[in-house]
Amino acid sequence: PIPVITIDGPTASGKGTVAQKVAQHLGFHYLDSGALYRLTALSVMRRNTPLDDEHALAKAAEHLHCHFNGAHIFLANEDVTNDIRAEEVGNMASKIAAIATVRQALYGLQLSFRQHPGLVADGRDMGTVIFPHAGLKVFLTASVAARAERRYKQLIDKGFSANMEDLSKDLTERDARDSSRSSAPLKAAQGAYLLDTSAMTADQAVEQVLSWYAA
Ligand code: CDP
Repeated sequence: PIPVITIDGPTASGKGTVAQKVAQHLGFHYLDSGALYRLTALSVMRRNTPLDDEHALAKAAEHLHCHFNGAHIFLANEDVTNDIRAEEVGNMASKIAAIATVRQALYGLQLSFRQHPGLVADGRDMGTVIFPHAGLKVFLTASVAARAERRYKQLIDKGFSANMEDLSKDLTERDARDSSRSSAPLKAAQGAYLLDTSAMTADQAVEQVLSWYAA
């Protein structure tokens, strides 16, 4: 069987960075499942699809023409690596991610990332829904303050403008929406190791995950 490590957690908890580094270290593939929701969000935002048109939203997810090339993410043939990181896109992603038919439409695509020699998958429901039989499941958390600060740095680095007050509000709203939705709510999977990274560097978190994997 092809090994899978799942890393789930709330927005800006550092999942992406940790998951990518763990994947790199082990020579595994990496699935950024949030990027699929962000790509769907960007595609429907560009088409002005109304949020109440669930059928059209699910169709957009089902027919998502995307591909990943190293750190670059493409929608159709356009490099949207940066565009999908905008906070509006993240907020829209969180809204459409609450729709069960959108989640179903992205199910098969996510499974297809499980390839030799292994996969590290990050998101909200990797351990609970998509890869429930993963050999190692991790649930990453961090305080709202630590997460707002990380997101702030990330956005500024990518050339977006940001302010801490709006970000903290966004984070709290996004947490509430992701945790309270009926379809695949954000929660730790059964058997998941909990890791609070508020006072940890990314490398320390990576070390911890690798030592759990080795054990
Ligand atoms: O970077 P951030 O943690 O804010 O978000 P992300 O991982 O890029 O995901 C964007 C949104 O997609 C999240 O707010 C979730 O609502 C949704 N998502 C999800 O529902 N399930 C996943 N497996 C991954 C993301």
